Amino acid sequence: MSYIDVIVFGVLISSKCSLQGAVFPPWFKFGAASAAYQVEGGWNASDKGESIWDHLLHTRSDITAESANGDVACDSYHLWKRDIEMCEELGLDMYRLSISWPRLLPSGFPNHISEYGKNYYSNLIDGLLEKGIQPVVTLYHFDLPQSLQDLGGWANPLIADWFADYARVVFTLYGDRVKIWLTLNEPFGICDVGYNLQHAPYLNDTEVGRYLCNKNTMLAHAKAWRVYQEEFKPRYNGKVSLSTLFIWYEPLTPDDKELTELTIEHWEGRYAHPIFSKQGGWPPKIQQFLDDAAKKEGYHQPRLPPFTAEEIELVRGTYDFYGLNHYTTRKVRKARPDEVIGSWPFYGSKELGIVLENDRSWPVGAVDWFAMYPEGLWKQLHWLKNTYGVNEILITENGYVNVDDDLEDWKRMKYIRDNLEQIQYAIEDGVNVTGYIHWTLMDNFEWLAGYKVNFGLYAVNFTDPERKRVPRESARYYAKVTRGRSYDYLHVGLNYD
Ligand code: NOJ
Repeated sequence: MSYIDVIVFGVLISSKCSLQGAVFPPWFKFGAASAAYQVEGGWNASDKGESIWDHLLHTRSDITAESANGDVACDSYHLWKRDIEMCEELGLDMYRLSISWPRLLPSGFPNHISEYGKNYYSNLIDGLLEKGIQPVVTLYHFDLPQSLQDLGGWANPLIADWFADYARVVFTLYGDRVKIWLTLNEPFGICDVGYNLQHAPYLNDTEVGRYLCNKNTMLAHAKAWRVYQEEFKPRYNGKVSLSTLFIWYEPLTPDDKELTELTIEHWEGRYAHPIFSKQGGWPPKIQQFLDDAAKKEGYHQPRLPPFTAEEIELVRGTYDFYGLNHYTTRKVRKARPDEVIGSWPFYGSKELGIVLENDRSWPVGAVDWFAMYPEGLWKQLHWLKNTYGVNEILITENGYVNVDDDLEDWKRMKYIRDNLEQIQYAIEDGVNVTGYIHWTLMDNFEWLAGYKVNFGLYAVNFTDPERKRVPRESARYYAKVTRGRSYDYLHVGLNYD
C-alpha cells in the first residue's frame, strides 16, 4: 500500500465518525492551481518566445528575492507527469493551470503555432483527464510575449484583438477537452501591480498606463468570451470567465464607510463592474473621483479612459460564472493629516487618502498584511451575489502564505478548514459556490518574492536538480477533505498561535 493509499484508507475510516453535517454537496468540486511562469521553467525550450517575465528578470536580476527567476522554477515543463500524480494523490476534481502565450505562439501572433507548446499542453490536459481530473485553463497568467510588450503591451488597444486571436487558437486546440476557461488572471495584477513596479512589465505608470491597461484588459476578456460564445459554445458547451482578486474591505469605524466603498470600487470594481454589473461600464463613484483628480492635475483627458456605449455593451455580461481569488481582509480608515501612508496595495493609498490595517482581533499570518479572517470570505461571497446577482461562483484561488519551509504547516490547514467552513455557510445561505481551487499545488516562483515565501501543499526542493516535491501536512489534510468532501478533519481546537 502506498503512502497516499494509507491516507485514502484513513479518510474512509475517519469520514464515518467525524462528519458533523459538514459535508459538501456532490456537485461541489475541489481543486488546486498553478500558473505557467511560476512552475514550468523551460523558459527557452524549443521555439518558445520570450515572455515579459523572462525579459524583466534577465535584465533586472536585482529586483527579486535572492535574484530568483522562473527559468527552471518547478521544472514542470519536464515533470508534468509528477504534477498529475500529485493531483491524483490529493484526490482533486480539478487542476487549474495556465497556458504560456509565448510558449504556444512564439511571436505572440497566430502566424506560427509551436508544435512543442501545442503538444506540451495537450499531453498535460490528456494526462489529467485520464485520471478523471478536470482541467481548468487560464489563458493568461501574467506572462505576455515580450514581442507584444514591445508594441505597447496592455496599454495598446489593439491587444484586445491580439488576445482574442490567441484565445481562438487555444479554444480550437483544446476546446474539445477543456470545459472551464479563465481568460485573464487578476487584471488587477496585470495593470495595478504591473504598472506599479511590482510585476512585469515593471513600469512606473500608475497615473495613465495602469488605466489604459485596465480598459484594454476588460475589452480583451470580452472579445475572447465572445469568440468562445459564437464559435465554440455550440459545439463544446464549456464555461468562460476570468479570475478577479478581491480582498474584502471593511470600514474601521462607521465614519470610514464611504471611503471603504470607494476603495472597493477602485481596487475591485474597476475589474468587475464592467463585466458583472447590470449597467456595465466603470463603477460610477471611482470614475467621478478619478475624473476630478485628473482635472485638478491638469490632464485634458480622463485618466480612466471612458468606454463608448458600444464598448459597454461589448463587455457587459461576458461571463458564465464568477471566478474569485480571495486571500484576506483589510480594514479601511481615513489617513490622518501628514500620516505616512505605507505602500499600496496592502497598506494604503495616497491617492484615496486611506490607510489599511488589521482588526486587532484577527490573527496575523506569516506576513503582516495577511490576516486570518475567514468570515471576510463569507461576506465577500454574499456581496458578490447581492451586488452583481451572479448565479455561480467558483473560487479560483485561496491559500496561505508561509515564510518558513515547515512541512508541518498547521496554520495552512487551519486556514483551509476555516475558509471551507465559511464557503459552506454561504452555500447553506443560498450562494451558489460550485468549487474551491486551492492556491497552490506546490511551492513555486512567487513573483518578486522569488522562492522566499511559499503557498504550496507540496514543498519543492529548489536546490535539487530533480525539483523533488514532498507533501506537507496540509496535503495530507486536503487529501482527506477532497475524499471525505468535508473540512471536518481537524479536531483538536487548533488555533493560529
Ligand atoms: C495571485 C496570483 O494569481 C498568483 O500568481 C500568486 O502567486 C498568488 N495570488 C499568491 O500571491
